[in-house]
Amino acid sequence: MNVWGIVLAAGSGSRFAAAGFDVAKQFIPYEGVPLFWRSVQTLARVPHIRGCVVVLPPGNNANALPTAYALLEECMQLAPVGVPVVATLGGARRQDSVRLGLQHIGAGCESVLVHDAARPFFTASLCSRIIAALEQGQEAVVPGVPLADTIKVVNATGSVQHTPQRETLRAVQTPQGFHMPLLARAHALAEQENWQVTDDASLVERMGEAVWIVPGEAMNQKITTAQDSDLLQPVTPRQTLVPCTGFGYDVHRYGGERPFILGGVPIATNITIAAHSDGDTLLHALIDALLGCIGGGDIGTLFPDNDPAYAGISSGLLLAEVLERTRRAGLVLYHVDMTIVAQTPKIAPHREAIARNVAKLLELPATFVNVKATTEEKLGFTGDKKGLKAIAVVTAARPAL
Ligand code: CTP
Ligand code: MG
Repeated sequence: MNVWGIVLAAGSGSRFAAAGFDVAKQFIPYEGVPLFWRSVQTLARVPHIRGCVVVLPPGNNANALPTAYALLEECMQLAPVGVPVVATLGGARRQDSVRLGLQHIGAGCESVLVHDAARPFFTASLCSRIIAALEQGQEAVVPGVPLADTIKVVNATGSVQHTPQRETLRAVQTPQGFHMPLLARAHALAEQENWQVTDDASLVERMGEAVWIVPGEAMNQKITTAQDSDLLQPVTPRQTLVPCTGFGYDVHRYGGERPFILGGVPIATNITIAAHSDGDTLLHALIDALLGCIGGGDIGTLFPDNDPAYAGISSGLLLAEVLERTRRAGLVLYHVDMTIVAQTPKIAPHREAIARNVAKLLELPATFVNVKATTEEKLGFTGDKKGLKAIAVVTAARPAL
């Protein structure tokens, strides 16, 4: 399915302004990029996403606009995401920004994920869950989480009107996914009928169409009030860190459909790899080693090899998703050591390029990433040139319990 993301960054952040930042919340620098760019980065890691529209503030003052555009340009230069990113201007209300953003999605787009830049902590897995439901034919799909509090409906004078059954309630989040024709119709109707809403699903509900809930994410909080500035503190905790080691191992068979790639570096050879993903054995071992550090299970559980969404997917994208998880877990990465075991092709000429690329992917200094290559002296399946294996060991620190 051809899906585009719309990242809404056109608000004024008036409720958050009391936190004392001199820019609107979506432009606050966070882990090296303005906050809104994190949403673009996450969306770009989703296999089906073909591009993103970023909706910027309409700019009540002459300075706001060039600044926002300049910031976006800088992000595209310094932290490229590998999918087209189109910028446009929003409107006075959130729903105006969505409507204006919709006019810029790419040709052939079948579904859209509409996302608030004020929710920077959602994952690519959540997006994939929404897209899977859209692919199954549900036309409007939103993430929701059960509530811990009991909710009261109150009247204007402050007395309680009624108490809905908590089990029936969900707090909904973004991204919200829609088949394109439905969302376009919903926004046209909203204009015509002057509907005022705070999310896109509400428009679809008012049209009498079904909106489906998929499980949301507890960490997908919206930055709204000054108190939420705590969420933007560096993830690295003030807690004590303890050392940890992660180990990963992977094997791929030769003779499949995928070109030979190791550590994200294409290797010129006529040997091919059999794999559901792009078959990057080294990155798979590395991903498992990273997951090992955070008790995150394994690559197969996270990205099932029978899920069509991952057919031929770049392992660099999978790595980026796993790195995001390690960051959220407060993991501090120090060092990586890896061994590639192959009788053929010769790895030595590519060793340095592979190490350099892995260092770049992990944002580690080159000297903290080591790649070794060996044969098994013509023994076993690697010796028989039937496949290759890779081993990775990650040294890191994680917050103590
Ligand atoms: N948004 C938008 N265009 C608007 C209003 C909001 O694109 N006219 C975006 C915001 O940038 C944010 C998301 O919609 O990413 C959710 O809105 P909200 O949390 O309400 O942000 P703001 O409107 O910026 O904040 P406030 O309501 O406190 O002024
Ligand atoms: Mg608002």
